[in-house]
Amino acid sequence: MKKEILVLGATGKTGRKVVKDLEQIGYPVRKGSRTENPSFDWHNRDNWPEILQGIHSMYVTYQPDLAVPGASDAISHLMDVARKKNVKKVVILSGKGEVEAQKCEQIVANSGLDYTLVRASWFMQNFSESFLLDPIIAGEIALPQATAKVPYVHTSDIAEVVVQSLIDDSHNGKTYELTGPQAMTFSEVIAKIASATSRDLQFIPISLEEYAQGMKAAGIPDDYAWLINYLFREVLGSKGSDLISTDIEKVLGKDPRSFDQYIEETLMQGVWQNPVSVM
Ligand SMILES: NC(=O)c1ccc[n+]([C@@H]2O[C@H](COP(=O)([O-])OP(=O)(O)OC[C@H]3O[C@@H](n4cnc5c(N)ncnc54)[C@H](OP(=O)(O)O)[C@@H]3O)[C@@H](O)[C@H]2O)c1
Repeated sequence: MKKEILVLGATGKTGRKVVKDLEQIGYPVRKGSRTENPSFDWHNRDNWPEILQGIHSMYVTYQPDLAVPGASDAISHLMDVARKKNVKKVVILSGKGEVEAQKCEQIVANSGLDYTLVRASWFMQNFSESFLLDPIIAGEIALPQATAKVPYVHTSDIAEVVVQSLIDDSHNGKTYELTGPQAMTFSEVIAKIASATSRDLQFIPISLEEYAQGMKAAGIPDDYAWLINYLFREVLGSKGSDLISTDIEKVLGKDPRSFDQYIEETLMQGVWQNPVSVM
């Protein structure tokens, strides 16, 4: 009989695909979300033993990011509960080039549980399901690190690697770096989306300082602004952030999805249309 798997962040960009893929191949899945009953919340540890009861393995996506202060304490506590509840395996989502997240990765690696570390590059879906969507809808995308090339990865590829890591012990103890097949600058990405949507999208290169000032002026909370600034400064600015990995191919035996494929799928969802231009 297939053993139950817990997915934390089950409604998120990768978690909901992991849930769907696991259910499709017949695994019982417990969804970790603040909307489930019992509800899973990183800020309320009281019911974690209940949520982990009877779980064989789990996928962990931390909110908002493993690099933020407090993340290592939460992951450490989760690993303690997991050990006590006899959970066998953890697959955790981390960020490629995120040195600050490695403390949490080490906590998982030293937990005594079987584990797989999945370090993903920036997601393609950041342009359609996250903070880069609003500027695209507005038609003006002002971002720092204009010359940085990013090998954006598709969340469906991440989910497929996570599922294999959860169900196949040959992935135990491994660290995978997941990227798409092509590294691109923001202006290259915006040009592709503009061409596909037939919209006039302006990419405006700005400095990290201007970007930080813009977040402050927009009333973005300090901790979230710190994280976004960290991701631009440290992750996109780091040596090797543009390197393409072949780990998706190694794990799945097929090529990673391309940015063009992502654009094609996202066009069908209609999320990139400027409300004014549709009227
Ligand atoms: N975006 C990127 O480019 C990128 C790249 C590499 C790594 N990552 C990592 O990916 C992780 C996020 O994974 P994801 O993108 O799959 O998820 P996501 O789309 O960011 O969202 C995950 C879910 O987290 C839940 N959540 C929010 N606050 C919560 C809280 N206080 N307690 C419990 N759950 C909470 C929400 O679910 P409910 O509302 O249902 O509770 C949300 O649907 C982060 O750790 C990030 O560092 C992201």
